[in-house]
Amino acid sequence: MAEFTLPANSQVMEGSTFDAPAGAKKVRTFRVYRYDPSTGNNPYLDTYHLDIDNCGPMVLDALIKIKNEVDPTLNFRRSCREGICGSCAMNIGGSNTLACTVGIDDFDGEIAIYPLPHQPVVRDLISDLTQFYAQYASVKPWLQTDTPAPTGRERLQSKEDRAKLDGLYECILCACCSTSCPSYWWNSDRYLGPAALLNSYRWIVDSRDESTGERLDDLEDPFKLYRCHTIMNCTTACPKGLNPAKAIAEIKKTMVMRQV
Ligand code: SF4
Ligand code: SF4
Ligand code: FES
Repeated sequence: MAEFTLPANSQVMEGSTFDAPAGAKKVRTFRVYRYDPSTGNNPYLDTYHLDIDNCGPMVLDALIKIKNEVDPTLNFRRSCREGICGSCAMNIGGSNTLACTVGIDDFDGEIAIYPLPHQPVVRDLISDLTQFYAQYASVKPWLQTDTPAPTGRERLQSKEDRAKLDGLYECILCACCSTSCPSYWWNSDRYLGPAALLNSYRWIVDSRDESTGERLDDLEDPFKLYRCHTIMNCTTACPKGLNPAKAIAEIKKTMVMRQV
């Protein structure tokens, strides 16, 4: 996995250290970001030495073990444990990824775990994704049509047109891509970011959608789309193997094609 430099957005101090039980044979060390904005105190890093002989294999298993058996004050999101819901997205070992799909053994030495970079923190590893979801909603991620639906059957599309949605519809909105994008870090209030743009393209390219012109008009803006400088962090970060940078390039190409 490629590594991204974490923002020096605040001073991170040393917190507490939690030792493994006496006699533990397979101990791994987790350095976990802790922050409660309501206290007014600085963030800090807690160190957990875990006996992973008695732990599931994934980083999320380690976090659950910490919360259940060592330190119930640790906060993080998770739901599916299958790489489907996107809620356990965080920065592990310097990369944005899903805690439930990376193994403890994928990392050497201490494993550093931070929230997704450059987002406000609600608590510990929980990022505030309010703006991220608002940007997703702003691309109107649903089928828009003027013609009435056919009676007695779905709106059909050819196998070829359906295939154009592959690599797009699988997005789980984890935000790993957008929060790894330097353009999004510096302009997240105005640049939509790779996740929202990939989802916009998912509808632009859908042969059944009848709002392609309006969708493109909405993106014709110096910031919403054109702040992408093809740095490609987004594609490197996507834990589902999607390619938001390519989707953004396709939108730009579609913009050009409609002007000729
Ligand atoms: S390709 Fe575009 S969206 Fe992806 S990381 Fe680079 S600037 Fe951000
Ligand atoms: S494109 Fe990939 S990294 Fe970005 S939100 Fe969707 S699944 Fe997550
Ligand atoms: S818990 Fe759902 S993606 Fe990790």
